[in-house]
Parts: sequence; structure tokens; C-alpha cells
Amino acid sequence: MNTQAYSRILGSGFVTGEVVIDNHRLARVFDTSDEWIRERSGIEQRYFVKEGTATSDLGVGAAKKALEDAKVKPEEIDYIVVATMTPDHYFPGVGPQLQAKLGMGTIPTLDIRQQCSGFVYGMQVCDALIRSGAAKRLLFVGCEIHSNFFPLSKVGWDIVMGRSDAKIDPAELERNNNHRGVLVLFGDAAGALVMGPTEDPQRGFLGYSLHTDGQDMKTLYAAAPGFAYRPYNNQAHIDEQLFVPQMEGKTVFKMAVTKMPESVREVCEKVGVQVSELDLLVPHQANLRISAGVQKSLKLPDEKVYNNIQRYGNTTAATIPIAYDECMKAGRIKPGNLVCFTALGAGFHWGAALMRA
Ligand code: COA
Repeated sequence: MNTQAYSRILGSGFVTGEVVIDNHRLARVFDTSDEWIRERSGIEQRYFVKEGTATSDLGVGAAKKALEDAKVKPEEIDYIVVATMTPDHYFPGVGPQLQAKLGMGTIPTLDIRQQCSGFVYGMQVCDALIRSGAAKRLLFVGCEIHSNFFPLSKVGWDIVMGRSDAKIDPAELERNNNHRGVLVLFGDAAGALVMGPTEDPQRGFLGYSLHTDGQDMKTLYAAAPGFAYRPYNNQAHIDEQLFVPQMEGKTVFKMAVTKMPESVREVCEKVGVQVSELDLLVPHQANLRISAGVQKSLKLPDEKVYNNIQRYGNTTAATIPIAYDECMKAGRIKPGNLVCFTALGAGFHWGAALMRA
């Protein structure tokens, strides 16, 4: 076992769904407005995939970009870790599909499902795999298709995707309104990192602070399908639209603005640095107001906190690698910078990861 090596990010990349969906499009299938969505969440647009594109396809797109960025060949990858809450199928996970589509032989793949915290949880898993010597060139992908949670009719889909100017049926509008608080938030995308060892203990991942509290699991969850039911998927689930995520938005909001800063402070303390020494905070992109609350609690200036939810919405496990890639390409992360990632999501799972670029 090589426990001396530290792990670091060698390259990154991301892709989005093919179709840009602005807030006005959503306002045609349920009662909402561009103004309401911007004011409450900061979101201006999100991307949806075209029908036929699967989560693994987005993952492949992001993986290829990350490999190119890292200058690593697919055959050099010896482990794949995937974070997603929206796999192509109930089982198996997306890892095997990514491996096959990328032609990566029989290397091991691992799916983790910590929803919006999938990427910070996964960073610890990937880091541990590399530090133990189990992996030398690891591909870590966060990929999600949330648009398929939308309970729309064919006409509803034609309207949202810009193929029809029809008016939504009033009965459908009424039904869609039941989910409008959650449906405005999410988008489809994937982000990927290539990770590997470094012998320099000053650079790479330095520490983690991760937590779970399952007491209030139903504050944010998709009730069905699931193996709490016999059979696990049935007509009642569809009639009652139980497959659409349910969320007590205000409770999630309060948890996020409390637990995300707490975990940032905790990881800084573990590693022995001050929060004020952070060069950049990359929060999971759940809501611009949540990011603002986290920033305020940590007393960080604007230039030290990165947000892009305005353009992509909440893409769950993909938000952090997308934000990381944008920061790298824009020169906002320089060698030696102290970068902290933090997230909270369904479970509840939350936490932070700290690295020296
Ligand atoms: N458009 C217009 N009105 C809407 C709406 C929409 N999309 N969604 C809800 N409303 C209405 C509600 O029906 C309610 O109306 P009422 O006062 O007549 O009952 C009103 O707006 C306020 O709703 P509420 O749910 O209290 O809004 P909010 O201020 O809490 O904002 C969220 C809603 C979802 C934006 C906010 O709670 C939030 O962002 N929470 C965190 C969500 C999150 O981050 N989830 C992912 C975690 S990883």
C-alpha cells in the first residue's frame, strides 16, 4: 500500500443537455414567472437533454473532455467512480455503462448516490482509492438528468422544448402547479475529473468533513418507485405522481445555510487553516440565495465564492465539477490556492472537502 501519495485533480470537463430552457418556457406549463424564479433562486436558465439522451451519455461527454484536459488516454484509467441520483436504469448503476461506452476494459467501477452531496462524498472515496494505491488514474464523474422527473404530457413536452406554441391544458397546468417549487430548480448536465497521485503533501486533497442525518429524510425525496412497495413500481405511483421529488423548500434552505458553513469551518479546523485563508469556495449550486447565506456566514468576499447556477440551475452531483472546470479555465484557481467545496442534499447528507491546487 502506498499511503504516502496524496491525490490531486489532473483535468476536468463538463457538458450540458442540448436544449437551453429559460424561465419563460417553464412559465408556459405551470404558474410561475421569470421574476419569481430569479428572485427566489437566481436561476435564469437551465439545460434539458433531448429525448433519447441518457445520463450515461452526458457522463461520457464530460469524461472525454476531462481526459483530454488531463492528457490522459482512456486506457490509462484504472478506476471509475460515478455520482448520480438519476441513473439510466434502476440497476445497475451508471459506472458499467460509462466503462463500456468509453471502451475502458474491465476496470472496476463504483456508483455512489449521495444526491447533491455526491461529489464531496465522492472526493473522499476517490482520494482514499488513490492514497491506498488501488487507483493511479481515476475518472470521477457526476452526471444527472432531472428533466425526466417532469410529469408532463406529450403536449407539455412539446411546449417546454419549444416545438409547440399551444396552450397547456388547464387540468394539466393545475397538476403541474403541485410541483412548481421543485421543478424550477433543476437542470441536466455532467461534470468529470481525472484524479491521480502526487508525492507533494502540500498539493491535492487535504481533508474532509462529512455528515448524514436521516431523521428528516422525507424533507426531500422521491417517494416512488421503490422497494417499500409491492410491486416496486405501479400505476398508483404514476396517478399520484409520486415519482416527482417532494421538497419542503424552506427546511432544506435552513439546513443548507447552517450545515454548509459549519462543515467548511470544521474541515478548515481539521486541516489547520483559517476560513479567511481560503482562496475560493465552490458551493454546490442549489440556490443563489443559499450560496449568499453560506458566504455571509463565513464572512467571505464576493471574489472568493463561485456561482454559476444562473446558467445551469441545480444539476445535483454535477454542479461542483462544472464549477471547478469553469474556475480552472477562467484562471480563478491558481497553483497553491486553497479551494474548499461544500454541499448539502437529500438524505440529508452534507459536508466539505478542502484541497490545495
Ligand atoms: N412560481 C411561483 N410561485 C411559486 C413557485 C413557483 N415556481 N413555487 C412556489 N410558489 C409559491 C407557493 O405556492 C407559495 O405561495 P403561497 O404563499 O400563496 O402559498 C409561495 O410561492 C411561497 O412558496 P415557498 O415554497 O414558501 O417559497 P420559498 O420562498 O421557500 O422558495 C424555493 C421556494 C424552493 C425556491 C426555496 O424554498 C428553496 O430554494 N429552498 C431550497 C431548495 C433546494 O436548494 N433544494 C435542493 C437542495 S440540494
